[in-house]
Amino acid sequence: MTDKRPLWSSKYSFIITAIGSAVGLGNIWRFPYIMGQYGGAIFLAVYILIISTICFIPLINELYIGKYTKKECVGAYEAINPKFKYLGALNPITGILIAGFYFIVGGWIINYIFKSFSGNPVENLGEYFSEFVKNPFYTCVLTEIFLFICIFFSARGVKKGIETANKVLMPILGVILIFLVIISLNLPNAHEGLEYMFKPDFSKLNSKMILAALGQAFFTLSIGMGALLTYGSYIKEDKTLVKSAYTIILSDTAFAVLAGIMIFPAVFSFNMVPNSGAGLVFVTLPQIFSQLPYGNFISGIFFILLLCAAITSGISIVEVPCAAFVERFNISRVKSCVLLFLCITFFAIPAALSFGMLNDIKLLDKNIFDFLDFLTSNILLPMNAIFLCLISGWFLKLNGNDIIKNKFFALCFCIGLKYIVPIILILLMFMGLN
Ligand code: TRP
Repeated sequence: MTDKRPLWSSKYSFIITAIGSAVGLGNIWRFPYIMGQYGGAIFLAVYILIISTICFIPLINELYIGKYTKKECVGAYEAINPKFKYLGALNPITGILIAGFYFIVGGWIINYIFKSFSGNPVENLGEYFSEFVKNPFYTCVLTEIFLFICIFFSARGVKKGIETANKVLMPILGVILIFLVIISLNLPNAHEGLEYMFKPDFSKLNSKMILAALGQAFFTLSIGMGALLTYGSYIKEDKTLVKSAYTIILSDTAFAVLAGIMIFPAVFSFNMVPNSGAGLVFVTLPQIFSQLPYGNFISGIFFILLLCAAITSGISIVEVPCAAFVERFNISRVKSCVLLFLCITFFAIPAALSFGMLNDIKLLDKNIFDFLDFLTSNILLPMNAIFLCLISGWFLKLNGNDIIKNKFFALCFCIGLKYIVPIILILLMFMGLN
């Protein structure tokens, strides 16, 4: 290894970076539109139930394995049993593939920030969005800029780069979100949006929605790619992981719910539909902004909010392969980051072009962008989580009391690792494949 392994400078640093990893486009872009597609409040109820029970086990498991082995993903799996080295390598590979589509959305956001502050009103926002994503030059350049920003922080190291970025960006994100929530709640008929979010309609409960909630929960908590494992490996002293896990889950849920409270009252106030899909944030919201006083400014602030969230999560996505390259190939962080930049570009450019020039290339009937999203969220994330639960449950022979003091909960934790979580996740995968 080139230098001593880095560590977080304080407990606060660890928590804020873990929350930064969790709170991202998953909360502000994906969560509201999926909730809109699956009927509002009932989805929220199922999601909260899942996130506070089933997700708790793989989340704390990842943190524990990182803290226990003090290694990046491949080394951590190898430490449990050398046979598992190759399974561990799936984590950084998943990270590179997730980056391949996530960073394109980062590029779109940068464009919308400039667009908002430039003050030129756009006539038809729906058309503008579909034309913009086809533009090969802009989308590729902006994707690379966003990638560069995330890699830059990673290259500066754990303390100077990752910690600093999170400590600066997360408070900005919190303040902007609250500012926009207040504006939204003061719009006429805001209560309709709140009713949509909090008054469940039980007739909309179905198995597809439960699976969507489970997938969303994994994605938003950053489980299944070794991000929490890698962050956990930088934990210094003996800390109670249970409390950290709940803090991460509660904060992530709070951000998602606030994002909903920011978006839905505005959607209802302007008689828009909440189920417009992935375009909710890029088409519906700008339409609303254009009708508000100081709309351009509010729109710019909103996309800055989105950018802060995307950067802190983007950093966690690149940190997994970055740490793996440093420790496996014994190279410096900067060299590792250059290598990673090239690897991610290899996937991100075709994905960025997949709405325009490369639209004809279809994998499983999906364009490259959608295919990467599908492959990672529905297959690789749950698969990695299943492997890690089984490996810790059956091979590490975890004594639950090392992690959870209460005997009953420790036993539940072990049963969860060995049986319950893998079975539920296998179910999710098979249904996701249909
Ligand atoms: N959780 C982030 C979001 O909500 C995305 C993310 C960051 C992620 N790191 C991850 C998703 C690791 C899966 C695995 O936007």
